This record gives sequence, structure tokens and C-alpha cells, in this order.
Amino acid sequence: MRDRVHQSVKDYYQSRLPKKPVPGQDYLAAAGKVLDEDDLHHLVDAGLDMWLTSGRFAEQFEKDFAKTMEVKHCLLVNSGSSANLLAFATLTSPSLADRQVKAGDEIITVAAGFPTTVNPIVQYGCVPVFVDVELPTYQIKLSELEKALSPKTKAIMVAHTLGNPFNAKVVQDFCKKHALWLIEDCCDAVGARFNGEMVGTFGDLATTSFYPAHHMTMGEGGAVLFKNSKLYNIATSFRDWGRDCWCAPGHDNTCQKRFAQQFAELPMGYDHKYVYSHIGYNFKVTDMQAAVGCSQLKKLSTFIEKRNKNFAYLSKNLKGCEEHLLLPEATPGATPSWFGFPITVRGNFTNKRNEITTYLEDHKIGTRLLFGGNLTKQPLYQQTKKRIIGDLINTDMIMNSTFWIGLWPGLDEIHLDYMVNNIKQYLKMR
Ligand SMILES: Cc1ncc(COP(=O)(O)O)c(C=O)c1O
Repeated sequence: MRDRVHQSVKDYYQSRLPKKPVPGQDYLAAAGKVLDEDDLHHLVDAGLDMWLTSGRFAEQFEKDFAKTMEVKHCLLVNSGSSANLLAFATLTSPSLADRQVKAGDEIITVAAGFPTTVNPIVQYGCVPVFVDVELPTYQIKLSELEKALSPKTKAIMVAHTLGNPFNAKVVQDFCKKHALWLIEDCCDAVGARFNGEMVGTFGDLATTSFYPAHHMTMGEGGAVLFKNSKLYNIATSFRDWGRDCWCAPGHDNTCQKRFAQQFAELPMGYDHKYVYSHIGYNFKVTDMQAAVGCSQLKKLSTFIEKRNKNFAYLSKNLKGCEEHLLLPEATPGATPSWFGFPITVRGNFTNKRNEITTYLEDHKIGTRLLFGGNLTKQPLYQQTKKRIIGDLINTDMIMNSTFWIGLWPGLDEIHLDYMVNNIKQYLKMR
């Protein structure tokens, strides 16, 4: 019967093959998902299991994704934002003794980015210390790290923005020298490398997102990556209600000591399944999400290849616009896995950013800002305790003059040509 259902699903998919957008006629989104028949097969397969919660597909995905990202462990969660919160929560575990991150500690980060890279710092009562970024790489300014350091500094939590890795070696060495934790937010940068090493392998913890805009999708989803088994065990507890027990869903007594242990002030033999060692969450995914992740993962390398090819095509064809537009560059030593194509409007054209994005949107070309621009100027951080290093001049430039256009694998040269021609047309009009 399962085979019959799958045959019908295949026929259904073939009858509704997704159509590519026609430039000028259809909207060219800045980001999107590429799904195929195999993704639908996996989704239905997981549905037919009717297991619903994390199950065989989640287990498979965690194993396969850890291998792809060249780390020891992967924990699947329900979003990239949850992954960031879980990664940070892990560092607050009392079991880390003198390395435990506590309220009042300072965490170095950047303001030119996505809010949920920074929010966990504030949510745990710590103080974000904002440093500027470099242009046109859009990555953390390394020369600011020493200035940001104080006796209260406990960690660096920062993203490889738009898929272009920051110099992870320098940041890693700085963390080692000063006994700081490093969380790499790789939500935009799955598959990128620095000095030949995969992003996510430099930090103590790393995070990814599987929201449809990202390199691969499961609708909603994310992951935390670990080289270290102790941190993995702590994070598993935080992800799964804060419990002490590590049984997989649907399993009991894996430790064989379920009714034979003593914890805190609980009576001897209190069921280990209901012993809690952390103030935890439930961030697990459904197996339908994980099933789509399994099929998407098989295509990840082709998705990344297409993104990077589209980046090269846009770079080459926008070269003639450099007088007015600052084009993006990879960090020296980096092999990016581009998420978007950032453009900063230069000189006299500064503050014309909204004019150009309006022009492009009017011509059915999707544009995005570099997320929160300068997060310190956003409403959410007005009342928040923070430290700002220097004048964040490039961050302000990004807030005022930067936007990005798409290069996701659903876009072909015909779409990119249309985007380039419209940008050139706008510049000619000015
Ligand atoms: C750098 C970065 N971190 C975290 C996130 C959050 O991921 P999610 O949307 O899966 O919560 C995003 C979202 O795009 C992001 O760009």
C-alpha cells in the first residue's frame, strides 16, 4: 500500500511540476527553496509512519549532517533561532563550573546582523559588546577584538554573515588565548570553508538554519553542531525539557538505572525520566521536517555550487558599476557558500539605497536589507544593557546604504541578466 501511495504522489508531483519565474513577468524572490519529487516522497513517507515527533528521519539526519559538517555531533532543533538560544543556554550549565556563563558576563558580537544571533546573550542576562565589521566582506573587524575584551568577557558569538566566512582562525586563536567560548552562527554559511576547514568546526558550538531561504530547507528547522561530547550532552538536556535522562523519544530505561539513582533532594529511585538538571526547553522537530532535511541534504553540494556560480556571474556582470556600487568580496582565505549578493551604494549615491530597492522591487526583483542593519539602533535594544566599541561606522553604512539581491539555486542566468540590466538601467537614470 505504501508503494501505491508513493506512485500516486509521484504522479501528483509530475502533474504539478514547479515553474521557473519569467523575468519581468513574475517576481524574482531574493531567497527561496528548491524542492523536488524526492522531497515530497520523503515528506509523505514520514507522514505514513504517523510517528510525528522526532524519529527515524531525525536520527538519520543528525548522523548525516554531522558528517557533512565535519563535526562529531549534531542536534536537530526547530529553527536557527532556537539553535542559537540552545547553543548559548548550553554555556550556562552549572556543570561547566568556572567556565559557566553567568548573568552580567560580556559576550563579543556584531551589530550588523540578524537579531537572534544576539538575543540569547540578552535573554540570559549577559551584556552584548558590539564591534564593527569590515567592508566589503561584511565580517567582524578583527582589530576591534582586543578593544572589546574586558575581565568580564566570556565568549564570542558571531555569524558568518551572508555565507562569507569571517577569519575563523584569528577569532579561534583569540578565544583560546583568552579562554573564551566561541559560538559560530553558520545559519547563512552552511558548507563555507576558511583555510580549507569547514565553518562550524572552529567554534565550541555552531548553529545552522533550515528555513526556506537557507542553503537547504525543512520548512522550519535548525541544528547545533559540536566537536565536544560534554557540550553535546548538556545541549541535549536543554533541548529536551532540561531532563537528566537521555532516552530517545519512545524509549525507556536506556541507562538501565531508571529507578536506581539519587538526585538532589528527590527520594532514592525517583524515575530518571522525570529528573531535570537544567531549566530547559522543548526544541525538537517533527519527523516530517527531518525527512525533508534528509532528502535536501543529498542536494546540498549542488545547491552550494549553484549559489557560488550565481555569485561569480553577478560579480562579473556588475563590475562596470563599481563607481557607484561597492561589490562584495570574500574574506582572504575563505571559500564562501554565498547566501545573498550584498551591494553597498557609494558616495553621492549614499541614502539612495531605498530608491534603488524601490526601483528593483517595482521591476519585480526581490531585495533584502542586511537584516537589522545596526542592531543597537533597533527598538528592541534601546533599553538593553550593552557596550559599543568605537563608532560602528561601517555598521551604520550597512544600515543606510546596503541591500542584497538573490543568488539562490532557483535563479538562472536569464534571471541574473534581468537583475543586472535593471541595476544598470537605474544607474543610467540617476
Ligand atoms: C545569521 C542568522 N542567524 C540566525 C537566523 C535565524 O534562523 P531561523 O529563521 O531558522 O530562526 C538567521 C535567519 O535568517 C540568520 O540569517
